[in-house]
Amino acid sequence: MDLSQYPLQAIAEKVGTPFYFYDGAILNQKFAELAALTEGDRLQCRFAVKANPARKVLEAARAHGMWIDAVSGNEVLRAKRAGFAMGNEPPVVMYTADVFRDNALQAVVENNVLPNVASPGMIRELAEAGYRGPIAIRINPGFGHGHVQACDTGGPSSKHGIWYEDHATVKSLAEEAGFPVVALHAHVGTGPQIREFDENMKKLVALFAHLLPYYPDARAVNLGGGIPHPYRPGAEPYPLGEYRGILQEGVRQLTAAAERPIGIEIEPGRYPVAGMAVLVARVKDVKATRANEKGPGNQFIMVDAGFNDLIRPAMYGSYHHISIAGAGQDRTPEPFVVAGPLCESGDVFTRDDQELLQPRDLPRPEPGDLLVLHDAGAYGTAMSSNYVSMGRAAQVYWEDGKASLIARRETLDDIVRMECDEAL
Ligand SMILES: Cc1ncc(COP(=O)(O)O)c(C=O)c1O
Repeated sequence: MDLSQYPLQAIAEKVGTPFYFYDGAILNQKFAELAALTEGDRLQCRFAVKANPARKVLEAARAHGMWIDAVSGNEVLRAKRAGFAMGNEPPVVMYTADVFRDNALQAVVENNVLPNVASPGMIRELAEAGYRGPIAIRINPGFGHGHVQACDTGGPSSKHGIWYEDHATVKSLAEEAGFPVVALHAHVGTGPQIREFDENMKKLVALFAHLLPYYPDARAVNLGGGIPHPYRPGAEPYPLGEYRGILQEGVRQLTAAAERPIGIEIEPGRYPVAGMAVLVARVKDVKATRANEKGPGNQFIMVDAGFNDLIRPAMYGSYHHISIAGAGQDRTPEPFVVAGPLCESGDVFTRDDQELLQPRDLPRPEPGDLLVLHDAGAYGTAMSSNYVSMGRAAQVYWEDGKASLIARRETLDDIVRMECDEAL
């Protein structure tokens, strides 16, 4: 994002810091790219709501013809509020999870959305809850790629889905319950090398070509999300055009293997939203430690955003590009660790996936400058929390040269609103 086009200082004065800043033009451009990628009868893109459930994002997804991958009852209901059709003809909203929690089962049954079963017990629960409709089955294909181990979503260490060699057990349970299996699904995540993604998609197509003959009611396979986003400056953007070729060839192969028309769905989360947002924080101070027998000294830029606002660096060592807006921005870069306000030494935005500090070359800022964490639109607000009773950051949406507040900063009253004292 070219920050010079936005009045970030003026917005910061109005809404305070930290705040998330979304550019609607980038968001719409990304959804338009996904719509072009999946244009045609037998291709469909879902948006994985978990990446960013903001109403504006869901409305943009709907405007571009996306369907929805929801992973909680409330995500189903947020999609409903944003105008997505319920029901399973066609299955615009699919519920994918390994466990039904809270209102998930009720949201699925009452709205008749397609449950994507990822654990055998879910079939029993659906039957007991009175569900009478089609299902999808999530397969663990035995391989996967996360950008780190914790995000690896396929293979023996992954909790997700039904192990591919055991699919027949779940198929029998579905038959006993009278649930036609209308789709097969897998999600294997994003590999560190973008070409691995293509290889994984082709491997999934081959696995589904093998499985489809066992599922006479299946009309579609879903290859999951994981389209890479170039987080590092200079990183190659993923070539969507080549992916379209893989999808079209996949439709041909799967249709031939099943001997009936089969469509392909995908469900990216990060791709449409990662690059449309930044997290804007205020530089509060610059300080240093000195070298001793434990290691070298470091210079710290202290900001008012923490892992309660953006947890990816602390949780996975994820890289977010950082820049400074303000008086200090033109100075010669020096190595700095960027750290937040929380009482945790891991509250650092410049660390790697081994939890080691990775000082970043940045111009020495002045207290009061804005520090911007880029590509924060996916799993940013969505994973933010009230840790240490701090309110979640405000969200600002930029469209046609105008800013609007789409979520205000959380207050103490918001944070304590569910506290009660009721006899049980
Ligand atoms: C089942 C499923 N589908 C889709 C996605 C979206 O993945 P990504 O944001 O990498 O595109 C996820 C992410 O965790 C997922 O678990």
